[in-house]
Amino acid sequence: MKSLQRQGCYKLHQITKFITGNIIGHPYLLIKAKKSTRIINHCLSEVSIRTVSTASIHHRKYVTVLLSAIQGTKYSNGHRGWLFKQSVKLFSTDTMCENQSDVKELSKLWTKKFEEIGVSEPQTSAELIIAHALGKKMMHEVPTEYTVDLSTNLVIQELCQRRLQRVPVQYIIGEWDFHDLVLKMKEPVFIPRPETEELADFVCDYIRSNNLQNGKFLDIGCGSGAISLHVLNSFKTITGVAIDKHNHACDLTKENARNLGLNKRLNVYQIDIFQKDTVEKLQEYLPFDVVISNPPYIPTLDIDNLEPEVERNYWTVLLSTIQGTKYSDGHRGWLNKQSVKLLSTGTLFENQSDVKELSKLWTKKFEEEGVSEPQTSAELIIAHALGKKMLHEVSPECTVDLSTNLVIQELCQRRLQRVPVQYVIGEWDFHDLVLKMKEPVFIPRPETEELADFVCDYIKSKNLQNGKFLDIGCGSGAISLHILNSFKTITGVAIDKHNHACDLTKENARNLELNKQLNVHQIDIFQKDTVAKLQEYLPFDVVISNPPYIPTLDIDNLEPEVERYESRDALNGGKDGLDVVRQILYLAPQFLSVGGQIWLEVYLDEPEMIKELVKENKSIKYLTTLKDFTKRDRFCVLQVQ
Ligand SMILES: C[S@@+](CC[C@H](N)C(=O)[O-])C[C@H]1O[C@@H](n2cnc3c(N)ncnc32)[C@H](O)[C@@H]1O
Repeated sequence: MKSLQRQGCYKLHQITKFITGNIIGHPYLLIKAKKSTRIINHCLSEVSIRTVSTASIHHRKYVTVLLSAIQGTKYSNGHRGWLFKQSVKLFSTDTMCENQSDVKELSKLWTKKFEEIGVSEPQTSAELIIAHALGKKMMHEVPTEYTVDLSTNLVIQELCQRRLQRVPVQYIIGEWDFHDLVLKMKEPVFIPRPETEELADFVCDYIRSNNLQNGKFLDIGCGSGAISLHVLNSFKTITGVAIDKHNHACDLTKENARNLGLNKRLNVYQIDIFQKDTVEKLQEYLPFDVVISNPPYIPTLDIDNLEPEVERNYWTVLLSTIQGTKYSDGHRGWLNKQSVKLLSTGTLFENQSDVKELSKLWTKKFEEEGVSEPQTSAELIIAHALGKKMLHEVSPECTVDLSTNLVIQELCQRRLQRVPVQYVIGEWDFHDLVLKMKEPVFIPRPETEELADFVCDYIKSKNLQNGKFLDIGCGSGAISLHILNSFKTITGVAIDKHNHACDLTKENARNLELNKQLNVHQIDIFQKDTVAKLQEYLPFDVVISNPPYIPTLDIDNLEPEVERYESRDALNGGKDGLDVVRQILYLAPQFLSVGGQIWLEVYLDEPEMIKELVKENKSIKYLTTLKDFTKRDRFCVLQVQ
């Protein structure tokens, strides 16, 4: 520490002292540190805390640190709980284009930025991202008078930052068109190319001309399911089997099939056609009428000889020179005339096929790069790539082939960029439910499992098993889905300000087959028509919320997050942290009948502030405060009277 003081880092010295002395017992500690990430890392290393992001280094400005000193995990093996015992997040300050609320201007600014950095298709990228953040597909669908509020602006910024890192726009917006179907896109599943639309068309012509409309097809290497789904969508009586070597592709094909209501006619299997039992596995469907495939077809030598990427010497670049787009407006077509996809070739640990050794190597790499929870990160990612939840589920004799190794590498690279492992593996546990996780939707924390438990106890004790609840700020749907999973006759309404959260809640509800009990609506509770929009469900028996509750000052001074983190709207609670809470309390008497309860998760001294807030309130009574597992006052129970 002394050397830092000599460097004029007295402030950081103070911060380190403060962290050391105060971190235990504080759920969130926000610090603004006017030094580079490297120096902050140095400070933090003194107290065994690591930054979760260092990508801000290229900004070299003011980096701020959000320390969430969440203690340990009480979860048994098999439950992934909260990863970061003491997680540290970095935000960047001068938020690019933050004051620009005019959609067109914002689009111009981002186009310029993309151009400067050499991002391909700069204008299309900017327009698609902005349209997406505004809940539209194409920019021309956004009304010209539309203005972008700060929080949407931050979402746009988060997404554009990913584009600046050359993430294909299809992964960023999470969907892409294949003919007239909109398919979900997820890294690292192959993004369908326009030539493949032509292949699918030729196949459809063949099916029609040979009267195979009641037949059966096999799609080998289905990826996102594009070919299969186009064929199924073209012929209402045809059936198909789609296979892929990778679980992530099969999962995405299934998800796309479900979303498009085509799943009843499609069977999807994880099959590597080099496995000896391939024919046996497909026996029940044989014979097929047609086999379709857009297989991997680039000669290995062409991949091996490519230049290593500038930043990381083990990355190489595969240029796929796909020409132009033949599509009309409204169809997003193929974005990149010359798209650059990053593949890894002479890659890290490519020859290591032993799972345990690979896990050790990645753990070491993470440690070296200062990634928090290095071992857990490595194990979760490797297990995930092998189609398992935890590494101990992978049999010790399992060996990792080259392509799986490359998938592991792609995912680990994201972790090296400090993307939370929950977003990297795309899922996380909430109690015994496995929920899909997608950036920038809030990752549920273990305290919230406690809130959900308390609410379930309350429901049981008041015999509300046939009742109705409202979950305000549902995020990934964690609280609602736990309650619905606990009581088979209860129904719920989950609302969130953001479409991305509502979409994820719906997806999680569907995956867990809890969607019949849950209605999800995109509602910002500050909108005047909130009660009107929920009219058909009123009154609720209980209102639950884990609202954004961090005071703005703690957040506003922060740089926007450079990497890919959670939505700022999930954190920012206004000046004193209670803006959203106040609005919930204002609305609660209109949502609940007399005696109905409000259960809130809050932060630090907020329970006392809330108590004060309702002191004079004739319609709401403060009942009690409950503690979280670190013995801090975190949950407020109030009642409408
Ligand atoms: C802390 S997160 C909680 C997410 C989820 N309930 C959980 O516990 O994992 C808060 C959520 O509130 C949503 N939110 C913020 N302001 C809101 C508003 N005015 N109206 C509705 N939802 C809001 C955010 O988008 C975010 O998803």
